Order: sequence, then structure tokens, then C-alpha cells
Amino acid sequence: MGVVPLYGARPCIGRDLSAAPNLVAERGCGLGRPMHVLEATVSTNDEALRAAREGAPHGATWVAEHQSGGRGRRGREWVSAPGEGLLFSVVLRLSCAPSRLPPIALVAGLAVRAAIVQALPGVDVKIKWPNDVWVAGRKIAGVLIETVTVGASVEAFVLGVGINVHTRIFPDELASVATSVALLSEGDPPDRAGLLADTLASLDRDLHMVVAGGLGLFRARLEAADGLRGLRVISDSGDSGVASGIDDDGRLLVRRDDGVLARWNSGEVRLAGARSS
Ligand code: BTN
Repeated sequence: MGVVPLYGARPCIGRDLSAAPNLVAERGCGLGRPMHVLEATVSTNDEALRAAREGAPHGATWVAEHQSGGRGRRGREWVSAPGEGLLFSVVLRLSCAPSRLPPIALVAGLAVRAAIVQALPGVDVKIKWPNDVWVAGRKIAGVLIETVTVGASVEAFVLGVGINVHTRIFPDELASVATSVALLSEGDPPDRAGLLADTLASLDRDLHMVVAGGLGLFRARLEAADGLRGLRVISDSGDSGVASGIDDDGRLLVRRDDGVLARWNSGEVRLAGARSS
């Protein structure tokens, strides 16, 4: 089943992650096996991309205590102090057209949200289209999907997830736009192994569903989770309007001031009056 030993002989940083391989294996989830737990790497997405090119199977997962070059969408950095975040990447071998990528990305965000909801009962957790996870307008998690292509076809996807878990103090530039599971928890300290197992289980179920049946199956969940709906949004090209839902191709519906319902493809969206996170 391929559980890779934890940390070698070096001290581990966060004990709450050490149970992850066994917990995931016990759940019988199709993702997370084999699981490689690293003390440090440049980026778990790099690890998974490299392995995917070398034939790693569907579900192979890399999780790290620290990344020296973690990256987010649109060339941003993903910063997380050692031991504070849940940082992982999964190789996905899904037989579907590249046009399914926006729906897959959205559903990945929904699955991450579902796991965070389990960790934070009673907290109103939302999706910021296309796949950020938000609480009260602050980012708690992000998803980055990258592809391994051969010629014109997609051979594999790498799904990278970063969840702010134990962080209580963010760097100045993130302090007003980020939050964490620890900051929102009222009970026990968060358990990253449980959060990882819950996230992988949700991803496993939801990714199969979206590949088989498309985004229509997620309509109710998308509407309940859509944190932008009704808010005034601005695209990176300067278009603006009121966010009015998400269509079955994963595009953001935006009611422009001239009344036209525009469909925005995946890109940068910010709230009017807010700075980008
Ligand atoms: C975003 O919000 O822009 C996406 C953030 C994705 C961050 C995760 S952390 C684990 C994986 N490795 C990376 O380098 N990035 C993703």
C-alpha cells in the first residue's frame, strides 16, 4: 500500500500529521496512497509533478511540513511557517478533456471546504470563485491545479492544496486577508491528519462525480457555498458587475451595470474596494 516512512531520522515538527498515512489507509480512500510525508521540500506540487511524469499512480500524495518555494495561482507565493499549514499535492489520473479543468477546480474547492466545515462546525465557510476557501472574507485555503501534458493531451493533473491550520499570527501582508482553523476553533487544537483524511475522502468522491456527471450535480452545494454571490466584483481586466452564480462550465456569472449577464473564465476576481488576496 506504500506508506513512506515519516521524516527519516530527523525530528518532526508537528505530531498532529504523523498519523496521516495510517488514518488515510484505514479509511480505504482511493487518494493518499502511497503517501509521502516530507519534513521540507521546495513545493509538494513539484514533487507530485516530477513523480507524475515518471508514472506515479492516481492518488499518490506528497505532504510537507514546510515548503521553501510554495506557490499559489497566478505566480503568487504560498507562505506557511513550518508545521503550521496542511500542504499537500495529489496526482490525479482522470480520463477527461482539458475543458473539464474549471469544473474540476471548482469541485476541488468544494471538497476542501467540506473538510474544513467538518473541522469547524457552525462556522460559515465559503468558496471564493474559482477555488479559494473563505471565512468572513478571509482566505483559509487555496487550491492550485497543474497539468502534465504529452503533446496536446493531459496525462495527469496535480492538485495542490494549502490550508492554514495552526497559524495564529500571519505575516503583515496577510494579516488582514487570511485566517486559520486554529483562529476559528473553539474546541481542541486542529488535527492535520484528520483534516487531510477528510479532505482526501471528499476529493475522491467529488472528483469521480464531476468527471462522470459534470457540475450540474453540484448545483445546490455551489449555490450554498458561493461567497461572491450578490457582491460587486472586478476582474483583472477591469470589468465589473455583481456576481450572480456559477454556470455548468465553471464560469462566474456577472451581471454588468448595462444589464448583460457576462460569463467570466477563470482568472483574478476581487471585491470592489478590496485588495487581492
Ligand atoms: C492559491 O490559493 O493560489 C493556491 C495555493 C496552493 C498552495 C498549495 S500548498 C501545497 C501545494 N504546493 C504548492 O507549491 N502549492 C500548493
